[in-house]
Amino acid sequence: MKKLIIIGGYGNGSVVQSTVEDINSIKPTWQLLGFLNDKEEGPINGYPVLGKINKESVQKYLDDDNVYFFYTLISVKLNYKFLSKLLDLEIPEQRFATIIHPTAVISKFAKIGYGVSIQPFVSVGPNTVIGNHVQVYAQALIGHGAKLDNYSYVANNACIGADVHLHEGAYIGTNATTLEFIKLGKWSLTGIGSVVLKDVPDYAKVVGNPARVIGKVE
Ligand SMILES: CC(C)(COP(=O)(O)OP(=O)(O)OC[C@H]1O[C@@H](n2cnc3c(N)ncnc32)[C@H](O)[C@@H]1OP(=O)(O)O)[C@@H](O)C(=O)NCCC(=O)NCCS
Repeated sequence: MKKLIIIGGYGNGSVVQSTVEDINSIKPTWQLLGFLNDKEEGPINGYPVLGKINKESVQKYLDDDNVYFFYTLISVKLNYKFLSKLLDLEIPEQRFATIIHPTAVISKFAKIGYGVSIQPFVSVGPNTVIGNHVQVYAQALIGHGAKLDNYSYVANNACIGADVHLHEGAYIGTNATTLEFIKLGKWSLTGIGSVVLKDVPDYAKVVGNPARVIGKVE
């Protein structure tokens, strides 16, 4: 079995933990060593906290080629802040695990990078290209030909139309939906339930039906 350390904790970290357990119940694949977490010291859902989220903690495990990491930290409005924390760890990309829930339906013509999580009942259409550190939450639909660049985030039940392009760090909220061929700009934020009919500029915050710009992401 490959070994896994989840960076995070209660919240998205626990969602990934749960998916890992579901994968293991079908085919033992990951030995979950524990979490790296800055706030908790005691166990998280029965798994030990192995250290704080810093280079020193990571270094202890990097020498073992069989240890993989999963980075779950995200904040809707401060996502970019969590990117620098990730980069500071200096973990090689190929040491990030990609975790796909057994109930997700992924086209064999989809390409998926490192450090990606795909949660229960997600559908990923053919010819989609998903970069590194992309998180796709339960029941989201990713249309054929869609492109999800690094660090983009798809909340539960979001519906990404065919050939839509989420640029780096773009965030799409719960139940939001897009017309086909739309571009969601870099680090843009699309609020829950939005209906996106035209391109979203980089760093823009959009909400509503039809989605309109209400501000900028810091
Ligand atoms: C967009 C969002 C981040 C709020 O941003 P914000 O800058 O704090 O905006 P505010 O809450 O100050 O609201 C500003 C205005 O936009 C409206 N608004 C905010 N979110 C909206 C949404 N999703 N749809 C429609 N209108 C919305 C508010 O009602 C407010 O309107 P008003 O000025 O007429 O009162 C938040 O509403 C959101 O949608 N987050 C995504 C959450 C998500 O998907 N989580 C994943 C599941 S855990």
